[in-house]
Amino acid sequence: MPSLSVIKTMLRELITTERSPRVTEPDLIMDDPDKVAAYTRAGREDGVMAPVYLFHCAQICEVIRPGDTVVDLACGPATQLGMVAKLNPETHFIGVDLSTEMLNRAEAYIAEQGLQNIELKQGSITNLSMFGDASVDAITSTVALHHLPDFAALEQTFAEIARILKPQGGLYLVDFGHLKSEKSIKDFAYQYADRQAELFTLDYLYSLRAAFTLKDFKQLKNKYLAGKAELFSTFLMPYMVVLKSQLRRSPDMDLIDALAEKRHAMPNYHQTDLTDLITFFRLGGLKSCFLDKKG
Ligand SMILES: C[S@@+](CC[C@H](N)C(=O)[O-])C[C@H]1O[C@@H](n2cnc3c(N)ncnc32)[C@H](O)[C@@H]1O
Repeated sequence: MPSLSVIKTMLRELITTERSPRVTEPDLIMDDPDKVAAYTRAGREDGVMAPVYLFHCAQICEVIRPGDTVVDLACGPATQLGMVAKLNPETHFIGVDLSTEMLNRAEAYIAEQGLQNIELKQGSITNLSMFGDASVDAITSTVALHHLPDFAALEQTFAEIARILKPQGGLYLVDFGHLKSEKSIKDFAYQYADRQAELFTLDYLYSLRAAFTLKDFKQLKNKYLAGKAELFSTFLMPYMVVLKSQLRRSPDMDLIDALAEKRHAMPNYHQTDLTDLITFFRLGGLKSCFLDKKG
């Protein structure tokens, strides 16, 4: 059951006439060591982002197959990428990011986890010339696109995705959606302020302010990914937006069990957050086949 404050935010978003402007991220490329450390901590097993990472991990598992080459755009410290790669040892992953600090973190994490199926490359997701046309089986990107400076950069990234993805390729892109009211943005950003580092709360606030709108995603999906992916958002209030291809894998019991184990190992408050996310997306049309019995 969503908390009262989330319901209040939802009602505000439904009735407000405010249209908060998009404010570009102060740190487009995340290179500040303290901020990178705070971000990395928030994502690891007991961090505030753990339920979100598990949700996206399960979604990504539905669109990738053993034997695939999967490119993860703006992989950051590879927390999400590492989680997916560990559950899919027969799949090869290439993480791309511009930040040296992030890539160093990612490299250390991959080594610590003993993962052999991840390669890292430094580069911009707006120019994927390191990959040929129709050369990649699947593409993922989690909570990163809002780091692009403007709509033109987002469009370049979509054009590159469409260029390098094989026909019938897998796709899972997720990012925040822009909320209408600054009060709603602040409510979300500070919701878990007592559970996380202040630097992470500020990072989250800047991320929500920098988020593109559902309309932006719809426009680019129609132009570049029509027939390749469907657009979903959380119910009534699109604070998260997903572009996902057709399922490319039938439900795999080993994966489902491994995801369930991770889910049940989380503290109760994280399990509640995960259940809310599953519910908000299910009501928005996005099923979670590998995570939810109702999926
Ligand atoms: C909020 S982090 C997301 C990291 C990761 N995907 C995750 O789920 O935790 C955003 C990442 O985007 C990277 N980034 C920003 N602009 C980029 C660009 N143009 N090309 C590649 N990476 C970029 C930043 O360096 C940072 O690592």
